Amino acid sequence: MSESTFDAPAQEAPRLAIRLSVNGQERVLHVEANVTLADALREQAGTTSVHLGCEHGVCGACNVKLDGEVVRSCLTLAASCEGARIVTLEGLTDERATVLKTALNRCHGLQCGYCTPGVMVTGHDLLTRGVPMNEKDIRAALCGNVCRCTGYQGMVRAVAESLEELAT
Ligand code: FES
Ligand code: FES
Repeated sequence: MSESTFDAPAQEAPRLAIRLSVNGQERVLHVEANVTLADALREQAGTTSVHLGCEHGVCGACNVKLDGEVVRSCLTLAASCEGARIVTLEGLTDERATVLKTALNRCHGLQCGYCTPGVMVTGHDLLTRGVPMNEKDIRAALCGNVCRCTGYQGMVRAVAESLEELAT
């Protein structure tokens, strides 16, 4: 009897070795060509703050910084990140991150916390730019971070208060 397609042994897809920096540490990730940065970071770099919500680039839970720009890691192929500098929530350890984290807590800017790593990455980016922002600007900047719990008021207030605190 001939071997059917279903009986044939599955072929392993070839893996690529990608060298990149994750939160300041040089890492080599071994990934198939279609693996997302989000999955590679979660499964091989241990950065489980990278949350997966929609996996379609809508919710922002997977936001990370790639060479200084906020990107959706669910839409970024790990194989395209050779030599890149990635920063996740785990790598946000400076004063801005502390100020924002404290403000989110004080302003009740989180509830279940699922969206929070992405909000921290986006919010930290806003604080890094150091540009004065009014409430409308902050709302526009956070519009790519979907939260199913808090209603956004506390988040917006937290960013506004952080901007104020860091400006003084
Ligand atoms: S999981 Fe990436 S944008 Fe929602
Ligand atoms: S705090 Fe629950 S999704 Fe934002």
